Amino acid sequence: MADKIEIMYSREEVEKRIAEMGRIISEDYQGREITLICILKGAAFFACELAKSITVPVNIEFMRCSSYGNETQSSGVVKITQDLDEPIRGKDVIVVEDIIDTGRTMNYLLEVLSGRKPESIRICSLLDKPDRRVVDVAVDYTGFVIPDVFIVGYGLDYAQKYRQLPYIGVVNQDAK
Ligand code: IMP
Ligand code: MG
Repeated sequence: MADKIEIMYSREEVEKRIAEMGRIISEDYQGREITLICILKGAAFFACELAKSITVPVNIEFMRCSSYGNETQSSGVVKITQDLDEPIRGKDVIVVEDIIDTGRTMNYLLEVLSGRKPESIRICSLLDKPDRRVVDVAVDYTGFVIPDVFIVGYGLDYAQKYRQLPYIGVVNQDAK
């Protein structure tokens, strides 16, 4: 049976919020150049949309890590499965994520990336589920703070499905 997906934020709401985030980031980084590190696959849609609203020079890099299998529960183990191919030493870095859940992935990534001596490093996430936090993570730019529900769309998947939905939706727990 098909999963039932309920719209939480429409395409218009999501795109409006991302454009606002891009404007704020552009103001904060006046006169600088940003290295956006997009965490694949989930943040791909968000990072590309965000980059379009940033008016200072932007360089997009990609990195991939895994902490989830095809389950909705975190394994707690984070692994970098595709690293950056450029050094970030001396760069103004913004790590772009789809969602901060337990915080384990971002905590691990921050540790690894800070060790490479960027000039600065900030976190930007489309979604934040603070109720689920296991490890403390300070998010600098958040799109939407949401309750503990399972989200799909705008890059986020459920067993690799639904990333292409142009809105943010909740998967109905009963239909899962
Ligand atoms: P964390 O390490 O627990 O913070 O998990 C972060 C990762 O878990 C995200 O980058 C997502 O890939 C995945 N994740 C967490 N919550 C959701 C959700 O509601 N929908 C889809 N993926 C999620
Ligand atoms: Mg992810």
